[in-house]
Amino acid sequence: MSDSENLPKLGVNSKGPRGELPFYGRRKGRPLRPQMQTLFDESLPQIQVPQDIDTLDGLFEDAPKDVFLEIGFGGGEHLASIAEAAPEAGFIGAEPFVNGVASLLRHIEERAIGNIRIWPDDVRLILDRMPENCLAGAYIMFPDPWPKKRHAGRRILQQSMRDRLARLIRPGGHLRMASDHPIAKTWLLAEAMADDRFEWLAQSAKDWQQRPEGWPETRYMAKGVDEGRASSWFDFIRK
Ligand SMILES: C[S@@+](CC[C@H](N)C(=O)[O-])C[C@H]1O[C@@H](n2cnc3c(N)ncnc32)[C@H](O)[C@@H]1O
Repeated sequence: MSDSENLPKLGVNSKGPRGELPFYGRRKGRPLRPQMQTLFDESLPQIQVPQDIDTLDGLFEDAPKDVFLEIGFGGGEHLASIAEAAPEAGFIGAEPFVNGVASLLRHIEERAIGNIRIWPDDVRLILDRMPENCLAGAYIMFPDPWPKKRHAGRRILQQSMRDRLARLIRPGGHLRMASDHPIAKTWLLAEAMADDRFEWLAQSAKDWQQRPEGWPETRYMAKGVDEGRASSWFDFIRK
């Protein structure tokens, strides 16, 4: 079976849910090597989030008290690390880029990580069915910046996304974001700060200028460092 056959049907170039813009990112890169293709075909179905998810009961083996979501996990380095560091919690990762999903599957296999479930498509397709207050936190790490004004509607933290996250993250839960792009980071911060359902936890510049403990590197962060860009880290709490 090819990897595209394994993707949920709804996502591909469809309009986004609620008439929103479609997903504009890449879905495929280089063809998967045979070993990765096997992982994709055989391992993904065992840990794939069902599209009609309306409860988290039964999604994880040990019914974890805390479930976290990572939106756009890229190669999965960050998600694999946070999941490995908190085996008692559950983690849902969403990423439509096939090669990124395969990369996370490799991390999961090599490191025997048992507490990650994957939605291999646009995250917006599952969020509306998930139960209220079901998340202890969400991560949006180095989202696509879409710096041009005319592309601003493609940025991930739209009002509709904030509404979804405000419904899903329980009071006291976190919304954690990072970016190294000057326009994207300013926008992310401004959007989240303007939303009175979330409160920024920073007390001093070091809280957003330095990578907080327990926030592992991501591939895009490393790229930014190599190219001389400073990252910013934003930790918000759901009021
Ligand atoms: C710039 S990359 C960053 C990847 C990773 N977080 C990192 O820091 O290395 C942004 C990622 O977000 C994903 N993405 C964009 N829109 C998304 C959506 N609606 N649902 C899920 N993932 C999305 C893209 O496919 C891409 O892999």
